[in-house]
Amino acid sequence: MSSPSDPKKTGADDQAAGMRKGLTNYGDAGFSLFLRKAFIKGAGYTDSALDRPVIGIADTGSGYNPCHGNMPQLIEAVQRGVMLAGGLPVKFPTISIGESFAAPTSMYLRNLMSMDTEEMLRAQPMDAVVLIGGCDKTVPAQLMGAASAGLPAIQLITGSMLTGSHRGETVGACTDCRRYWGKYRADEIDAQEIADVNNQLVASVGTCSVMGTASTMACIAEGLGMTVPGGASPPAVTSARMRVAEQTGTVAVQMAKTRLTVDKILTAKAFENAMRVLLAIGGSTNAIVHLTAIAGRMGFEVDLKALDRMGRETPVLVDLKPSGRHYMEHFDAAGGMTTLLRELKPLLHLDALTVTGRTLGEELERASPPFRQDVIRPRDNPIYPQGGIAVLQGNLAPGGAIIKQSAADPRLMEHEGRAVVFDSLADLADRIDSDDLDVRADDILVLKNIGPKGAPGMPEAGYIPLPRKLARQGVKDMVRISDGRMSGTAFGTIVLHVTPESAIGGPLAHVRNGDRIRLSVDKREISLLVPDAELARRAREQPVQVPSAERGFRKLFLATVTQADKGVDFDFLAAAQMRGTVPKA
Ligand code: FES
Repeated sequence: MSSPSDPKKTGADDQAAGMRKGLTNYGDAGFSLFLRKAFIKGAGYTDSALDRPVIGIADTGSGYNPCHGNMPQLIEAVQRGVMLAGGLPVKFPTISIGESFAAPTSMYLRNLMSMDTEEMLRAQPMDAVVLIGGCDKTVPAQLMGAASAGLPAIQLITGSMLTGSHRGETVGACTDCRRYWGKYRADEIDAQEIADVNNQLVASVGTCSVMGTASTMACIAEGLGMTVPGGASPPAVTSARMRVAEQTGTVAVQMAKTRLTVDKILTAKAFENAMRVLLAIGGSTNAIVHLTAIAGRMGFEVDLKALDRMGRETPVLVDLKPSGRHYMEHFDAAGGMTTLLRELKPLLHLDALTVTGRTLGEELERASPPFRQDVIRPRDNPIYPQGGIAVLQGNLAPGGAIIKQSAADPRLMEHEGRAVVFDSLADLADRIDSDDLDVRADDILVLKNIGPKGAPGMPEAGYIPLPRKLARQGVKDMVRISDGRMSGTAFGTIVLHVTPESAIGGPLAHVRNGDRIRLSVDKREISLLVPDAELARRAREQPVQVPSAERGFRKLFLATVTQADKGVDFDFLAAAQMRGTVPKA
């Protein structure tokens, strides 16, 4: 055991490390440290343990979050890695958000989780932190919080779930959840079959097995340089995932020793690399909102038009559902992000630094050699010639809107039709299945009031179900428009994130049944074919009531949440000083 130093001489200072960091304020720093040590020794720690670099481990295990169901094993492996490298692991809890267990929607809680993460990183003594997340909103929330806290931070992904098998067909959450539910709504399968497939869609703990938001954010975290190389894709229940966890713990200690803070990794180049990744994986539309929020925490504004230009020269290479055929376990077997990044090399900033202290280019040089596989395509034989996501503009969305073109019906990408309008989610639920609904297959479904303030929380309700009477006729897709989001596992010709949203009086608020709307993905246009004077008259006739609340988190949320083009973050959480725009293209 090491000999104790003079407790009167141990005060707080800017360079303090380990248990000396961020002392509780009693007006006597020596006493604060004395007291802290007394309490942690109550848990059985020795002085020599307490002299090591302290590595916090953000534990987001929860009975309400099966996507994080391997948390105990991951923490054990991280702790092993930390101790092998000479650090002291200390786990602590934060909020966890399980996508299908959060009402009104998980997005309503993402910023709260980011604040919890940021403040716990600030408040508790740690020299570096391992952030363990996986389910859709958790990785964005952790990266947002860590970006603001400024410590050395490394992301560990929980990993994807295994696929299941239904009557001979491989299935996985949640593209197949939606596909089978669509079949059930259209009376193509019966109650027995929908019950049977329900047992197979989620075959193990872990995150959704397609290129949904969770997988997208895992790939983006690696593209940002925030995970160990290869950290995005090993499935949750594999030994490879546990080795990633051990390695993450070890790297966290190196980061603490070298003070490799998050600002050295989350640079403009890192965000541009992450955007390339998003486009090339045919990733979730939600990731644009999350990346915008993370970038905002670092002082970067996302230029949607420049992102669209980047998309025109970044093909979709990854053949995963919902844009393609395979699942995350196949992406992993094909070499995962290493294979993809190698293919994207000419489009990337290879000098961007990663958590290992080496650059992205150096890591690719060190990686195992390429091999034949059919999940990640070469750039000259893409799944889709452009990036998965296109940015639309027009009088219906002056602040922009997006469409996942790689998962849309090519026949509907140039389309003009009659608007069939739903004023809210409740209105949609009341009428969408009515036989009396005046709707045809070439109409455009419009859903209002599901934006950041509208629902509130911008729920994933933009995947508007097809009217039952059309589904029964065999209609598989229609143009659908809203100010909401959709799950990264969904597919269809769906225009999302219309900005400004209807709840604050954006043009979407004034669309009426029978109006003509034009979508041209080629021209990047979304237009309401109604004269400006008529829209102004409607706005005067029916002004919107902007939502507000009397108290609590809902009051904070509604008063401060920003629009989709600003990341749906709270306005007071963005960096105090802006440093530029990304991408620069
Ligand atoms: Fe958690 Fe899909 S529900 S990742």
